[in-house]
Amino acid sequence: MELTKLQQAYSKLVFLCDANTKIHCLPFFADFVAKYKIAIIEVEAGEGNKNLGAVKLIWEAMINLELDRSALLLNLGGGMLSDLGGFAASCYKRGIDFVNIPTTFLSQIDASFGGKTAINLGSTKNQIGSFVSPVNVLVCPLFLKTLADRETKNGFAEAFKHALIADRNYWDFLLDLNIFDFNRLDWKPIILLSFNIKMKIVNLDPKEEGIRKLLNFGHTLGHAFEAFANRKTEGSLSHGEAVAAGIICESYISMRLLNFPASAMDDICRRFNHFFDKLDFIDEKNTPAFFDLMRHDKKNQKGKINFSLIEEIGKARFDCEVSDELIKESIQYYSELN
Ligand SMILES: NC(=O)c1ccc[n+]([C@@H]2O[C@H](COP(=O)([O-])OP(=O)(O)OC[C@H]3O[C@@H](n4cnc5c(N)ncnc54)[C@H](O)[C@@H]3O)[C@@H](O)[C@H]2O)c1
Ligand SMILES: [Zn+2]
Repeated sequence: MELTKLQQAYSKLVFLCDANTKIHCLPFFADFVAKYKIAIIEVEAGEGNKNLGAVKLIWEAMINLELDRSALLLNLGGGMLSDLGGFAASCYKRGIDFVNIPTTFLSQIDASFGGKTAINLGSTKNQIGSFVSPVNVLVCPLFLKTLADRETKNGFAEAFKHALIADRNYWDFLLDLNIFDFNRLDWKPIILLSFNIKMKIVNLDPKEEGIRKLLNFGHTLGHAFEAFANRKTEGSLSHGEAVAAGIICESYISMRLLNFPASAMDDICRRFNHFFDKLDFIDEKNTPAFFDLMRHDKKNQKGKINFSLIEEIGKARFDCEVSDELIKESIQYYSELN
């Protein structure tokens, strides 16, 4: 219904899919695609394709399809696809509208809204991008049925993050939830709670000049771990897996710097230990490489590495300066966890 309205409002609609969402998600729209002869642009799946090469492919396809400025791009996929498609749309003919139809848990609770698009350049993450919002986001938990368990877990890292920075009740709710039985999970409350936390923060600070930085909790070290692991084998570590490890390290820093309670630290470690695999490359030996990668972080100012940290569960603080020593200590803490 929603799509039919969009079809009437725009000169042309085009789906952007990756190889997996074309198989698993596009069939939901088969009648619509056939009825209106909707064109489809396909890119390869995976974070390694969130790059300039894929953007070029999309722009060339758009030109071949003779899309004008009143065309609409429908990004059908996870966060990689909405970041990539949103970025491509934001530059094509100086910007056309796009709608996100998120198909992974992570993108339904986080990546598909909030007004940021990005691609990766070399080994650095999300360094090229734009602040631009989709005209609409269509969320349907049904897509999650075909998602691999690893990808579902990946999304939970962001849900835990939302709870830790802003909502103690949500954290308790997530601790009580039987999140191992994904087939029986009621996704709606999780999607709504996470959406509300992120949007409340984004609305206060759309361009990340202040409070929006709170959403980067777990990401300063998390992005470094992600970039490091994917240097050799792209896709070997997902965003959420890296962020989960980042959350543990940055909670430890919070404990040492802001008196974040040790008992809450134990809760985080216990929950994450059951849920995410421990990453064995996070150790002293690789610490210099993590520092190199962190120095590229967009959150840095005047060469200093800035962190968002938690004072207690549900309460966070941004622009925290942390010494190199304490960062190293947090990596050591992680590496010694059982
Ligand atoms: N813009 C933002 O605000 C924001 C926020 C958080 C994360 N991100 C970005 O999001 C990306 C991670 O997103 P992601 O975890 O959704 O990864 P993803 O988009 O790469 O999807 C993960 C895998 O699942 C497959 N897939 C997607 N939907 C499926 C479905 N319904 N059934 C079966 N397979 C399916 C994909 O093809 C891919 O192989 C990162 O690039 C990260 O930087 C952006
Ligand atoms: Zn993230």
